[in-house]
Amino acid sequence: MKKKIAVLPGDGIGREIASGAAAVLQAAGKRFGHEFEIEYADIGGAAIDAHNTPLPESTLGLARNSDAVLLGAVGGPKWDNLPSAERPERGLLAIRKELGLFANLRPIPSFQKLVQSSPLKPEIAENVNMLIVRELTGGLYFGKPSERRGENNEVVVDTLQYTRAEIERIVVKAFEFAAGRGGKLTSVDKANVLESSRMWREIVNEKASDYPSVTVDHMYVDAAAMKLISSPGQFDVIVTENLFGDILSDEASMITGSLGMLPSASLSESGFGLYEPVHGSAPDIAGQNKANPLAMILSAALMLKYSFNMREEGEAIERAVQSVLNDGYCTPDLQMEGSTVVGTDKMIELVTQRVANGSDVLTDTIV
Ligand code: NAD
Ligand code: IPM
Ligand code: MN
Repeated sequence: MKKKIAVLPGDGIGREIASGAAAVLQAAGKRFGHEFEIEYADIGGAAIDAHNTPLPESTLGLARNSDAVLLGAVGGPKWDNLPSAERPERGLLAIRKELGLFANLRPIPSFQKLVQSSPLKPEIAENVNMLIVRELTGGLYFGKPSERRGENNEVVVDTLQYTRAEIERIVVKAFEFAAGRGGKLTSVDKANVLESSRMWREIVNEKASDYPSVTVDHMYVDAAAMKLISSPGQFDVIVTENLFGDILSDEASMITGSLGMLPSASLSESGFGLYEPVHGSAPDIAGQNKANPLAMILSAALMLKYSFNMREEGEAIERAVQSVLNDGYCTPDLQMEGSTVVGTDKMIELVTQRVANGSDVLTDTIV
């Protein structure tokens, strides 16, 4: 098969890991007889520096003309003092909105080898198989008004807005995933306070009758934050609004021991996909060859599975990652006793080689 992939490295460690994931994709293409045509473009701070805007028309055009998009991360101290409408992060929000990427899937990979790197007790961190479905183009991130008001700008407003249709489509998506996985859906909201959450809860209850095989429960977001750490094994699919999903997924990354392990897929109604790690540009370690590239590489695996329906090819990447970890290699963010700590480049090389040559059977559940 021939596919065109837009790669948008962005800023900070995004620049160190995106080309690595592209190399892994090329290795998978070569092994399985596909042609991946990869074209790079700027987004975020890099695009502000080169084009004066965080999302140039040319980048958006390339994304629209590609079969899928792979994105590193955006942002960094250099651009932190810009007004919010001009920041690198605005480029990320804009590409999500422009491409209609409302469904953000954030699976928590459960590599057996990483149980020891989790700060949680082994009996709590193991046997977790969870997917967070985060609404991505609504809520507080996009509600208008978002502004300062008053004579002295002493009042500030952000608006949490959803339409019924926006909630329905993400809830339906989550039910579909739950029906195809463990059959359990936990809807996370703040319905004891927020009107938007009350509508969210109503819609989840309405849709539940279309999915009799799925058990549904509702949980307040504060309690969910606690349960993610005390008993993550109870979750199968979590569905939640934009900001709650942002926060809970960084928290859930600690089940694996590092934010550098969590991939994501953002899908539109037509099934178009953008793939990016959950983490950011990590300015504290950028440029030091310390970044864990595995979240980015696993995002590329998700692209093969979801956008190109290449299950075997995606699994070949997941197997390669599992095999490198099982052989005791890790980047500095993963605390694994007796392991060989390697840099970003070396980790990319190890995974690429194993994708090219094939590796063991997949035993861990990645997505
Ligand atoms: P961050 O996710 O960049 O980093 C948080 C912590 O996790 C840091 O200590 C970092 O070193 C570590 N970390 C993250 N990814 C890692 C990896 N792959 N390997 C090893 N360690 C890793 O979040 P932050 O520091 O709060 O934000 C930095 C910048 O990134 C900000 O400008 C923020 O807006 C942006 N950001 C972008 C995205 C994105 O592009 N999707 C996501 C989150 C944050
Ligand atoms: C993420 C990030 C973004 C978000 C920021 C950088 C806008 O934290 O992708 O999780 O909040 O969605
Ligand atoms: Mn985030």
